[in-house]
Parts: sequence; structure tokens; C-alpha cells
Amino acid sequence: MEIAVIVCFCVTTTKSDIDAAIADGAHTVEQVGARCGAGTGCGSCREYIEDVIVTSGTGCPGGGCCSECIYGAGQASSASPERFDDASSCAA
Ligand code: FES
Repeated sequence: MEIAVIVCFCVTTTKSDIDAAIADGAHTVEQVGARCGAGTGCGSCREYIEDVIVTSGTGCPGGGCCSECIYGAGQASSASPERFDDASSCAA
């Protein structure tokens, strides 16, 4: 029996929900939130979600902070607060 680990208490979202969102193509915390709601409340779980994305190896190295990012919405993240000036800096 698998135990559900709740990551986001504001939206009652589990680690499995976040893994599914990443498997569905989420590359940023915002994209995970759009898919399952995690991280869209108080924000205290956002750093953990970012860690899960980075660990999965599917995250944008800039946290989706390029204005031209194909992954994100031009927003800096807590794990990658630096901003790239242009998409040529992106390893994606
Ligand atoms: S615990 Fe996830 S947004 Fe509040």
C-alpha cells in the first residue's frame, strides 16, 4: 500500500500529484500549480516543488525566468532567482 505524502496543505496535493504534473510536462512551479494546484496558496511548499522539478531533471535551468522561455512564464523562482537576459543563456 502506497502512502500519500501531502506536499501542499492549502490545496491538499500529494507528491504523486506533483510527479504526475511533471510527467504531464510541467517544467516550473507555476506550471505544476496550473496542473494540480500545488503552490497556489500560501506558497510555503513552492521551494519543495522546485526541488522536485530539479531532481526530476526536467526543470528549466533558469526556473522559467527568461522572458522568451519555452517552459515558463517569464518569472524568477526561489531556487533560481537570477534572470537570464535572453533565451541564448538557456541550456534548454
Ligand atoms: S502549502 Fe502549498 S501553497 Fe500553501
